[in-house]
Amino acid sequence: MELNIDATNTKRILVLHGPNLNLLGTREPEVYGTLTLNAINEKLRERAKELGVDEIEFLQSNFEGALVEAIQNARGHYDFIILNAAALTHYSIALRDAISAIPVPVIEVHLSNIHRREEFRHKSVIAPVVMGQICGFGVDSYIAALEIATRKLQRDSK
Ligand code: DQA
Repeated sequence: MELNIDATNTKRILVLHGPNLNLLGTREPEVYGTLTLNAINEKLRERAKELGVDEIEFLQSNFEGALVEAIQNARGHYDFIILNAAALTHYSIALRDAISAIPVPVIEVHLSNIHRREEFRHKSVIAPVVMGQICGFGVDSYIAALEIATRKLQRDSK
């Protein structure tokens, strides 16, 4: 996909990965693919460079509180958050409240299509407070989120 994004004025993006995503590569490869988390981050870093993003930072945590704090601390430091909350997506009101508490826009991403999996994955408690959700495209869910965030920042700076 070529988006033809003007590389000026793009800004700082935080990518957050939730519980068990550190196991990507070996974790249920038939569902999540064979890319490791490092490989996903590297692809994002490369695409961010092409898009002229000034800063892209990554955090993976298996702890809800660490993710809540990262979201709280994003205020004033980042212009967009790309969040794969993993299992927390389906039940963490703490994460949802943290997203609601800050003005930084969040794009929810998932590698798998949560809507065609087990019923308990159909519900995202964060979906109502994020800008939008992208799921089912593997690493391209993250890449698409990055492209959309960049395009949005570009438009807003005009
Ligand atoms: C996931 C989907 C969640 O249901 C699951 O708990 C994950 C990964 C995904 O990226 O497809 O850990 O967020």
